[in-house]
Parts: sequence; structure tokens; C-alpha cells
Amino acid sequence: MQIIVCETPDEGADLVTREILRRLESKPDLVLGLATGSTPIGVYERLVRLHREKGVDFSRVRTFNLDEYIGLSAEHPQSYRFFMRRHLFDALNIPAANIHFPPTEGPELQRKCREYDEKIQAVGGIDIQILGIGSNGHIGFNEPTSSLRSGTRVKTLTEKTLRDNSRFYSSGETQPHLATTMGIGTILGAKRILLQAFGEKKADAIRAIVEGPISAFWPGSVLQLHPETTLFLVRASATRLEMLEYYVRTHHYHRELEE
Ligand code: GLP
Repeated sequence: MQIIVCETPDEGADLVTREILRRLESKPDLVLGLATGSTPIGVYERLVRLHREKGVDFSRVRTFNLDEYIGLSAEHPQSYRFFMRRHLFDALNIPAANIHFPPTEGPELQRKCREYDEKIQAVGGIDIQILGIGSNGHIGFNEPTSSLRSGTRVKTLTEKTLRDNSRFYSSGETQPHLATTMGIGTILGAKRILLQAFGEKKADAIRAIVEGPISAFWPGSVLQLHPETTLFLVRASATRLEMLEYYVRTHHYHRELEE
């Protein structure tokens, strides 16, 4: 894992966006794995700006979202399909046929989940996977104790996740308890993983996934097995890292080598 401690979330979003842009220039039909939540919004804002102001073309890009709630329609403001339209898709020129979400409806959901992973394989795999992290260490909706080689499937959300995400629901509104998520195995299949974590609420999870053992109890810890993963943190989310100063120094030397 490469760890970059940024001054601000904006700096993190700038770095992630810059990498996406660089990859897009060499591969216009880039395959992006996309996340929801408040953390990736800065990157999406920057991609929209690049398209509007600099004419960056996304017409050949393919996207696969990490997860989606079961029981919410695509028009429901809390659905991840709605979120993605609002923050990204409505403003970019990605053809609808290139946009994919995990299946959440109908019979044979398990088979459709398998097909989602096959679809990712069929386009050559995910080039860049954008990730956030739950305060309990989940990636996508792979909650603690998720199988480390899992494929896309339905997961039950933990109490902690329901509490964390309840801020998006008004009182009386039903909050889904189930979601379909890319599996941990699916995520590990991505060629490059860019995980952003901002705010002190993430500090325990960051400590566990970076310096703890690989464990299904902290699903993000599996990223220790992935050779092309970078974590973009800020001081607040990095406070519990025992080797923080080492990561800062390492990044400093890497930058000097690149210049
Ligand atoms: C949800 C999503 C995750 C996301 C997490 C953190 O649970 N399924 O993909 O990483 O929220 O959200 P936030 O970025 O708002 O802290």
C-alpha cells in the first residue's frame, strides 16, 4: 500500500483526478470502478469540470459501480443510481449502455450477480477502482466477516453502517437493510485501486486496514494483498497510524525520485 497524507481532502481529490485523467489520455475506453458516499464527490466534481471546461471526452469510458441498495428504485434520491446521475453521469458524455450497476431486482439475483462479475471480466477488468471506506472498514458494502474472495452478491448491512448512513434519511423514511455489492474478490481484481479516507471518523479503520492483520473483520485490510493500491488520507484520518512519519517520508522520497 502506498500512503499519501494530503493537506486537505481537495488535494486528495486533485491527485486522484489527475491519475484518472492521465490514464484516460492513454486509454480512452478506460474501465472505471466507481464508489458513492460523500468521499468521492470531490473527484466527480473535478471530472465534470474537466469535461465542461476542457472538453475531456468520456464517450468511450465504461463504468461499474460498487454497490446499490435493494428495495430503492433508480429514482429514489437515496439510491446510488440517483447519486451517480446527480454527481457525475448527468454532466458527462458516457453513453447509458456503458454504465453498469450491480443487479438488485427480480428473480435469479444470484445468477445476475455472477453475470455482473463476468461483464467486468469481459471488458478486460477494471482499470481504476475508486474506493472510500466505512468506519467499520467495509469497502463497497462488504461488511466485517465478508469472505475475502467473494464475488458480487447481496449483503446485509450492519447496525454500524445503518447508523452511519442514517444521516441521509429523514425520520420515518425506510432505510434499506440489504444491498448488492461487488465482492472483495471483485475489487481485488482491479488493476489499480485509489482509496480516499478523510475525517477522524475513519482513523480507526485506517489504522486497522494499514497496520493490522489481514482479516475479514476489517474487510479493507485485504488491500494489503493488492500491489497497486494507494490511500489518500488527511492528517485527521491518519492520526492512529503508528508509522505515520515513515509514510510521509516515503512519499517525500518517491516524489523526489519522480521529479
Ligand atoms: C457507503 C458505501 C461505501 C462508502 C462508505 C463511506 O457505505 N457503500 O462505498 O465508502 O459509505 O461513505 P462516506 O464516503 O460518506 O464516508
